[in-house]
Order: sequence, then structure tokens, then C-alpha cells
Amino acid sequence: MSSRLRRMRRNESLRSLVRETHVQSSDLIYPIFVREGQTEAEPILSMPGQSRLPVEALADAAKEIEDLGIGAVLLFGLPSRKDDSATSAYDPNGVVQRAIKAIKKSTPNLVVMTDVCVCAYMSHGHCGVLQGHEIDNDATLPLLARMALSHAHAGADVVAPSSMMDAQVGAIRTSLDLEGLGNIAVMAYSAKFSSAFYGPFREAADSAPSFGDRASYQHDYANARHARRELLQDIEEGADILMVKPGLAYLDIVLRARELSDLPIAAYAVSGEYSMIKAAAERGWLDEKKIVLETLTAFRRAGADLVITYHAKEAAAWLNTN
Ligand code: PBG
Repeated sequence: MSSRLRRMRRNESLRSLVRETHVQSSDLIYPIFVREGQTEAEPILSMPGQSRLPVEALADAAKEIEDLGIGAVLLFGLPSRKDDSATSAYDPNGVVQRAIKAIKKSTPNLVVMTDVCVCAYMSHGHCGVLQGHEIDNDATLPLLARMALSHAHAGADVVAPSSMMDAQVGAIRTSLDLEGLGNIAVMAYSAKFSSAFYGPFREAADSAPSFGDRASYQHDYANARHARRELLQDIEEGADILMVKPGLAYLDIVLRARELSDLPIAAYAVSGEYSMIKAAAERGWLDEKKIVLETLTAFRRAGADLVITYHAKEAAAWLNTN
């Protein structure tokens, strides 16, 4: 037989020689929830193994993450005060701003990314300014820009707008440039779908909307072409990294993004994906290590350069000893 595909699958040495896709710990981004007004780490029940951390715990957490070789952290804040205009979101002494400073002090070289969205800071839990029961897109833009600027001033390397307002990337890029922060990068949540996979996160970040849902701003999960238009728009507005979210159920979108652009692509393995694996592993139904390494490889194979995952620390430890 001239073509015998099994020849190169015969043993692990041959398979390893022709392996097409690799994952390393520096490809991974670890999301961290930082909570204001507490002194102890608080376990997140819907995400076993994850906790909301006080700012005081971040210096040690960041050292551990850096030692594991993880590429970056992505910060989410839980402020002690919420209101109807998200004022804590851009407070120079806000919880995320203090978190950035704490991490940069202990591990100056660890890349710090921040989520730029107001849902956790608004009393109503929506990702924008409300006008009655409607989101006012354009009134939200200056708020997002102000939040991003305060993160950049505190020392963030990358800001990641996730509120899905039109023109958010451009508004943030322009404000950063005007303030002399042209070196700060924007990771755009371009293809963020309205998804039930975010369930555990909303408990973790206390950011569930008090009425309605996010379908008027996040993409309809039935629509790949619509998401492609937003990817193109975010490229036009100056995005440095494009994101697809959720991850596993959206690998077709990752592949489309890869074919569309030479920008780095990040895929977000969101809270629900993490919790499903944890739940099955706890019952002994799945081998957690094998599942995590297989899914991370799948993200990379589909075209993602970076994977945002709550499994980052465990995965890095497994990858580093492989
Ligand atoms: C904020 C935001 C959400 C997630 C990341 N940023 C929640 C949402 O849109 O409701 C979800 C992350 C996850 O589920 O892990 N808008």
C-alpha cells in the first residue's frame, strides 16, 4: 500500500515527530476574580477550585502564576458599591485598579489584562447605560473608555472590552492614544455570543442582569456571518487581539477568525465549560487531565493562539511535567 496512514501513528516517538499542534503554558491566560472589602479567599461554589480573591492575596497568586509560565492574567472586579452609572468602574482606587498595582509590584513582567465591562458595577447588572429598559450604546462608550484609561493608568498591559457595544474598540483606542497610552493593547471580545455557558460566571462575578437578558448586545449563537462582521469592524477600529467566546461550541468561529485575520486570536473557555468538566471529573465520569489537554489542543488546532481558561494553573502544571 503506497499510502498507509498508520505508519506514522505506530508508536509515540513517531507520533510526536509529526504532531502538528502544541500547547504550552505561555499560550494560556488565567482569569482572576478580585473582590473588594474582604480579607479571605472566597470559594466560588459553581466553579470548584476557583475563588474570589482579596487584593491582598494577589501578590502571592501572581508569583505562582508566573512560576507556572502562564502567559497572562485577566482581571474581573467585584466592587463593594454598585450604582446606575458604574462609578466604581473607573475609580483610581477601585478594586481592579488596586489589583493591577499589586500584581505589577510583585511580578512586573506578568502580562496583566483587564475586563472592561460595567455589568458588575451597575446596580441593574447590564453591560451598558440604561435608558428605560433599553441600553444606550453611545452613552456607554465614554464610560468604557474612562474605565479602560483608569486600568491603563494603573499599569494594565491589555484592556479587554466585553460589553459588546458598537464602536467600543475604537472609542477605547482613541482615548488611550489621546492620553499618551499608545502602547496599551486592546483585546476585543469580537465574537462574544449570548450564551447559557456564562451561568456560573454570573454567580462568580455577581453580574447577572436584574431583568431581561443580553441578547440585544451579544451575538445570536445561530449567526456566524454576523460575528464575522464584528470581527472585521474590530480590526478596523484597531484591535490588537481578537477573541471568540464561548470556546468549545464555537470552534467553527475560531477557524473563521483565523482565516479572516493575521491578528492573534484568543478563545475563551468560559465558566460553564469549566464547570461541566469539573462536575464530570468529580463523579469519575471523565479524566480531567486528559479532557483538558485534549480541549486545549483543539482550541489551538482550530486556530487560536491563546486560550483563556480557568484550568490554566492545573493545565500549566501538567504541561510543564509532560
Ligand atoms: C462581562 C463578562 C462575562 C463573561 C466575561 N465577561 C459575562 C456575561 O457576559 O454575562 C463570561 C465569562 C465566563 O463565563 O467565564 N460582560
